[in-house]
Amino acid sequence: MTATATVPAELDAPAAANALSTGPKLVIRSITLPTPTKSDVRRRLRQAVRVTARRLGPLFGLAARRQPVSNAEIAEALRKMFDDMGGTFSKFGQLIGSAPSLFGDDVAGAFRSTLDDVVPIPFHDVKLAVEDEFGLPMSQLFSAFDEEPIAAASLAAVHRAVLPDGRVVAVKVLRPGIEYKMAVDLAVMHPLFDFLGHQVAIGVLGEFPALISGLQEQLSEELDLRNEARSMRWFEHLCQVLELDRLEIPLPIDGYAGKRVLAMTFVDGVPVDDVEAIAAQGVDPAPLVQDCVKAWFASALCTGAFHGDVHAGNVMITTDGKLGVLDWGIVGRFDADTQIFFRRVIEGAMGDESAWVDVWKYAEAASGPGLQESLGLTDEQMITVVRMQVEPIFHRPFGEVKLSDMIMTTETMRDMVGAGDSDAPQRRNPYQRWRSERQFRRDQRDSGVRETSFDRSMFLLGKQLVYFERYGRLFLPDTPLLWDRSAFERLLAEPVVIAEVPFE
Ligand SMILES: Nc1ncnc2c1ncn2[C@@H]1O[C@H](COP(=O)(O)OP(=O)(O)O)[C@@H](O)[C@H]1O
Ligand SMILES: [Mg+2]
Repeated sequence: MTATATVPAELDAPAAANALSTGPKLVIRSITLPTPTKSDVRRRLRQAVRVTARRLGPLFGLAARRQPVSNAEIAEALRKMFDDMGGTFSKFGQLIGSAPSLFGDDVAGAFRSTLDDVVPIPFHDVKLAVEDEFGLPMSQLFSAFDEEPIAAASLAAVHRAVLPDGRVVAVKVLRPGIEYKMAVDLAVMHPLFDFLGHQVAIGVLGEFPALISGLQEQLSEELDLRNEARSMRWFEHLCQVLELDRLEIPLPIDGYAGKRVLAMTFVDGVPVDDVEAIAAQGVDPAPLVQDCVKAWFASALCTGAFHGDVHAGNVMITTDGKLGVLDWGIVGRFDADTQIFFRRVIEGAMGDESAWVDVWKYAEAASGPGLQESLGLTDEQMITVVRMQVEPIFHRPFGEVKLSDMIMTTETMRDMVGAGDSDAPQRRNPYQRWRSERQFRRDQRDSGVRETSFDRSMFLLGKQLVYFERYGRLFLPDTPLLWDRSAFERLLAEPVVIAEVPFE
């Protein structure tokens, strides 16, 4: 189950399929990004080439002379380049930072400090955007609107405001012209990283082309705030169906949910990792964090849709002791096979022996027959490898596990099998590793089994697992993931009925 797989798996797992939700699915629509002019692309590309030469030039020189360059050094240089470039490059750096299962801890760690590109938006532009979106003057739309934003990130700023009826709201406003800027950057990134990835023997770059396509897909959804509004309504409805009443999801305000401006109920609280502020509130965050993990698994297991960005900045302990989950712009959706796979993993961890066969079948379909062949193992042995990797994650306390191991890369599988083998240390040499990965990818392309396209749901799953790992270690170090067996049994046994369409 590599993180970049498309999966043609046919699973005969009727038991798992029984309890899938019925009723309408969450609908997300992508926008078409504008087509940038050639001269804008050329200008940005020239800048990118200059910055790349400055930041990466010295390392390329070493690599060309076959001198060792560590992935961490490359990552650090690339991160500086992304900071210099800003815009979509910042988003891209953050994406890499959230994917240690794809890039390894050292590389992802280096990207975690990617700066957000936060040039302030002049208030005049915010006002114009709001009035343009709803066709009314600001004074009629709001009785108050804070000029200073609560937060400003690369895509949008969020302002606190008050509706004419007195309700306090958070208003998210996309940066003016952001679609065009992102489109220019993406047009530059594709050829730039394609070139770097093919010409230079640097392992880190191998995954970039697929990841850029993934980023483009994600931005095409995030840049229409009506998707976020739809997701909030849908997940709020799901929380009601599942009786998860300690969770608070902001709701879009009727008549204020536009493509570029979105007003929603204000969630009053402090970020979940602000330990001091939470202590001052006198709230014990541990049960709330358990609820959050449970709710997340419930949505992924039962409906296949899940919040794709549950980092600490998006999770708050509210003043009335609930857990507020914000920022519904990135939502992962499993296809049916992946959803069943995910359920089978958990059913296996709960003791269903037959599940591991299905889990391996899925992994095999995802990675292609080349993997098993290159490891020289039988089906039985592959099933054992997969099981050994995944099962302990559910039973050992959060303080001791690495949740992201649930998503195995071909490299982790090789490392597991090759542990103790005299050839193994050699594989960790970055150059060798890149060559062997490249060869593996080529074989797969040639055999036509595995697409090089990006599986976003797997990527987002990996990302959430890393976040939960972090919260788990912080708040629930002695609790295993399957602490509440009966809750998971219930989730797996009964279909969740989503009877009505809670959105347009
Ligand atoms: N409904 C809300 N209530 C209160 N604060 C909010 C709300 N929505 C966003 N914010 C504040 O704005 C910040 C950025 O909003 P978010 O939706 O996370 O956007 P981004 O995609 O830029 O991270 C949040 O971290 C939070 O502080
Ligand atoms: Mg956020």
